[in-house]
Amino acid sequence: MKIGIVGGTGDIGEGIAMRLSSNHDVVIGSREEDKAVESSEVCYATVTKLGLPCSVSGYSNQEAVDRSDIVILAIPFKHVEPTLASLHGFEKKLVISPVNPMEKRDFFVFTPLLKDRQRSLSEDCSPGNKALFGIQYRGSKQVEGAHRTARPCCTGLWR
Ligand SMILES: NC(=O)c1ccc[n+]([C@@H]2O[C@H](COP(=O)([O-])OP(=O)(O)OC[C@H]3O[C@@H](n4cnc5c(N)ncnc54)[C@H](OP(=O)(O)O)[C@@H]3O)[C@@H](O)[C@H]2O)c1
Repeated sequence: MKIGIVGGTGDIGEGIAMRLSSNHDVVIGSREEDKAVESSEVCYATVTKLGLPCSVSGYSNQEAVDRSDIVILAIPFKHVEPTLASLHGFEKKLVISPVNPMEKRDFFVFTPLLKDRQRSLSEDCSPGNKALFGIQYRGSKQVEGAHRTARPCCTGLWR
């Protein structure tokens, strides 16, 4: 499968890229393409060091959407709405979001949306298609040695 990661340069995005890129073609997306290329190089080096094959590349967030069948959102919660508004082409794609409605202040604060807003957000990113919200994942620093055992855990299918 071709899997694009919007905001794939962060800890969670890189971790997902490292875990999926030996079995799938992963496109790391970023607001800055150079940053995505750099992350793809880190991912490639980490995965091949484990003796595993790796297919990963780095592009803009829009290219990551365009080049993929599955799109994973790996950006902080407060940036999801503006980022989705700036991207297009989610039709016929599965959109997966591990995003937690939390904000890092002095400590993590739970900042949920009202249910109606959640629904409209899922429709924004995946009009008429399936969107999977609420999976649990680990960051890139936990990849080494754990590559084969770490698995995403689904806790909710929105629609
Ligand atoms: N489900 C779970 O188990 C789990 C566990 C931990 C975290 N999470 C969630 O995973 C998500 C990512 O976490 P993280 O720690 O990887 O986040 P992060 O490192 O803070 O940010 C990830 C990426 O978001 C992009 N970004 C930052 N500001 C942005 C903006 N204003 N507009 C658009 N993009 C922006 C950046 O990419 P560029 O600068 O390259 O564009 C950044 O590398 C969060 O929503 C978090 O709640 C889930």
